[in-house]
Amino acid sequence: MRQKYFITTFGCQMNVNDSEVIAGILESIGYESAATIEAADLVLLNTCCVRENAENRTFGHIGNLKELKEKKPDLIIGLCGCMAQEANVVEKIRESYPHVDLVFGTHNLHQLPELLQKVRETSSRVIEVWDSEGEIHEGLPIKRDETFRAWVTIMYGCNNFCTYCIVPYVRGRERSRKPEVILETVRDLAANGVKEVTLLGQNVNSYGKDIGDGWNFARLLRELAKTDIARIRFQTSHPKDLSDELIEVIAAEPKICRHLHLPFQAGSSRILKLMNRQYTKEQYLELAQKIQQRVTDIALTTDIIVGFPGETDADFNDTLDLVQQVRFDGAFTFIYSPRVGTPAAKMEDPTPEEVKKERLMKLIEIQNKISLGKNQNLVGTLQEVLIEGSSEKDAAIWSGRTSQNKLVHFEPAGQVAIGDLGVVRVTGAKTFTLEGKLLG
Ligand code: SAH
Ligand code: SF4
Ligand code: F3S
Repeated sequence: MRQKYFITTFGCQMNVNDSEVIAGILESIGYESAATIEAADLVLLNTCCVRENAENRTFGHIGNLKELKEKKPDLIIGLCGCMAQEANVVEKIRESYPHVDLVFGTHNLHQLPELLQKVRETSSRVIEVWDSEGEIHEGLPIKRDETFRAWVTIMYGCNNFCTYCIVPYVRGRERSRKPEVILETVRDLAANGVKEVTLLGQNVNSYGKDIGDGWNFARLLRELAKTDIARIRFQTSHPKDLSDELIEVIAAEPKICRHLHLPFQAGSSRILKLMNRQYTKEQYLELAQKIQQRVTDIALTTDIIVGFPGETDADFNDTLDLVQQVRFDGAFTFIYSPRVGTPAAKMEDPTPEEVKKERLMKLIEIQNKISLGKNQNLVGTLQEVLIEGSSEKDAAIWSGRTSQNKLVHFEPAGQVAIGDLGVVRVTGAKTFTLEGKLLG
């Protein structure tokens, strides 16, 4: 009987895409996917450490797996992803979680087959975490979760060292995949019926800097737009590297979706400097306005951190002001979480947690009103959607995403199929979703 695996993924799309590669590697050595965690012979947790609560949830999950291991002593439990790159986490696993058999990092997932063999042969714990990135391993198998859209990682790592952020420490320096490899991947996907690709990187705007030959992100997009893929998305963009050339490519290529995720993190220029973000409030505003003027139907979304060390009410008001001036379509908002080893973790932070929570609630309230207003503006319009499937609760209600990345729930007229591109008339708006009717 074939061995079965079960992967639980935490964190960002990069991890989701890595889990697809891990699944591909496992299937290439004879494993098959388990329908439930209880049915698995191998359980892998692909982890995230960007905020403390992500880590706490994972430790809770590892704790729960102890019972499963007691019932099933041959079960192999593995931990990989960003948490595996943290020395303090590996230490904690070594000392307090003896039921974890395998730990491997973000730089050596290609070693999984040999590491698994080692676990089986030696019946002892295997901990193999490379500190530095080494070269990119191309040609790894991949088992994608979806047939109609796909993640395509275009670069690994980050060089920005925002002072709050642990990602550069656990993902290494920026490395771009070769344009030929990316183009071939996207051509293959299109040939296999995939409609939409999302290009992934911590900072896609600095794509190609390490390649030379005149490659940059705008050029990559221009080349990708020539393939048969119907839609192209990308994330994440760092404001400091967003070029005019990129804005022109977005404006000129209808295949590039009308959505830009452009994290600003904080509205106060003083806090932005402490964060090492390399732009001021005024520069961000100018950039956002330039994009909105050049690509009038662009939907802007953002990430915001509340309660960075030393943030005052006046600093926070700058965040509210920026949110109101730009009028984002949506925002992911986080309370600052100190991460071991980052510069911000050593900064004075006198603001009580209660105050930070109040600020967060206020921010969310203001942003939600803006999001709703933005969605209401779309009522009556026609929007192309990529159809994702029907609702779990009501099989008569389907959903799809617009170019602006808005989720629309709609009633179909006639035949619909997952992965089709259709046109809906928007009939209603909520804070996070739209309602509509699919035109037959
Ligand atoms: N590379 C991307 C996103 C990385 S992590 C970028 O630069 O935008 C995703 C988001 O998590 C960040 O944009 C930031 O808003 C948030 N984040 C990162 N570190 C954090 C921390 N220590 N505390 C709270 N939020 C954090
Ligand atoms: Fe973290 Fe900043 Fe890099 Fe984004 S750009 S991953 S926030 S260091
Ligand atoms: Fe988390 Fe790692 Fe992504 S820390 S946000 S999973 S790069």
